[in-house]
Amino acid sequence: MLDNIRLSTDETAVVILDQTKLPGKVEYLRLMTAAQMRHAIMTLQVRGAPAIGIFAAYALYVLAKSIPEDADFRGTLKELKNYLSSTRPTAVNLNYALERMMDAAKNNGGGKERKKILTALGEECRRIQYEDAAVCRSISEYALSLLKDGWGILTYCNAGPIATSRYGTALGGIILGFERGYKFNVYCCETRPLMQGSRLTAFELTEEGVNTTLICDNMASRVMSEGKIQACFVGCDRVAANGDTANKIGTSMVAVLAKHYKIPFYVFCPTSTLDMKCKSGRDIVIETRSEEEVHTGFFKERIAPEDVKIYNPAFDVTPANLITAIVTERGICKAPYEDSLRMINRKKE
Ligand code: MRU
Repeated sequence: MLDNIRLSTDETAVVILDQTKLPGKVEYLRLMTAAQMRHAIMTLQVRGAPAIGIFAAYALYVLAKSIPEDADFRGTLKELKNYLSSTRPTAVNLNYALERMMDAAKNNGGGKERKKILTALGEECRRIQYEDAAVCRSISEYALSLLKDGWGILTYCNAGPIATSRYGTALGGIILGFERGYKFNVYCCETRPLMQGSRLTAFELTEEGVNTTLICDNMASRVMSEGKIQACFVGCDRVAANGDTANKIGTSMVAVLAKHYKIPFYVFCPTSTLDMKCKSGRDIVIETRSEEEVHTGFFKERIAPEDVKIYNPAFDVTPANLITAIVTERGICKAPYEDSLRMINRKKE
């Protein structure tokens, strides 16, 4: 598994694996300025809901250290937090991690105790990453309990180790099972337009040694109809209180197909991705991204006419009634989700 996010040894930069260069190149970036860090989140150099939270926490720490001695420390910290959190609206973990950092600052020292606050921030960002590794491990154990040796599993987008800290969420059970000798046949949807399935999931799984087959998104129905798939495994960016779930655009299409073919459809996430203030999927803000991703993207030449209109929503919402279970580090939630998610969320306190 590749190291994806870390503090530089001198703590003046956040070092990330540039996910836009995979699978061709394993390249690391050393980010020092707020503009570079914001750019990294917006362009998906770092992506995956838990990973952007971890990254943003480290970024805020590095930036906090460079706030001038004579500046309004808390005011500047808040501005930096807002600057980073306004990058991607759908993933709840971004703001979750940044809020944790702000709380750490608030609970440690008064306005003048800059050193104390910086120590608390440094500890908190490390804790966020460390906790995520444990959370992913627990999700992976629950995920594996849902699988049988020899099964075919369909995945969408990328919810693997590089989208988190270790193991991943949706890929965690598959990787853990593989380590324990299970033989799965994983079908990854390539995930247009940004190809996280082909560039990242196929890369991570083949690197691990898992038997992996890449399909175009529009082949999912065919593969399911051929009896090759026994379970669908996806990650998510935000779960509403009623179980409606936002994940990469196209996920709901897989869920509809899974229902048709009577294949269980599982969603995996840390409890930090639950947004109990969001009543249903209708309240989830869906990020819209640039036209360029659709008409050019990873192609050498434009693949659509100059004057065609393009619509590029980056996420969609899978209605709760299409989801067999939502799997978290604290257990497996089933319908009615209003009750099961509330219970699991309570266990956090
Ligand atoms: O736009 P992306 O690539 O950040 O979208 C990511 C996803 O949709 C993932 O499934 C989600 O963040 C879960 S990552 C564990």
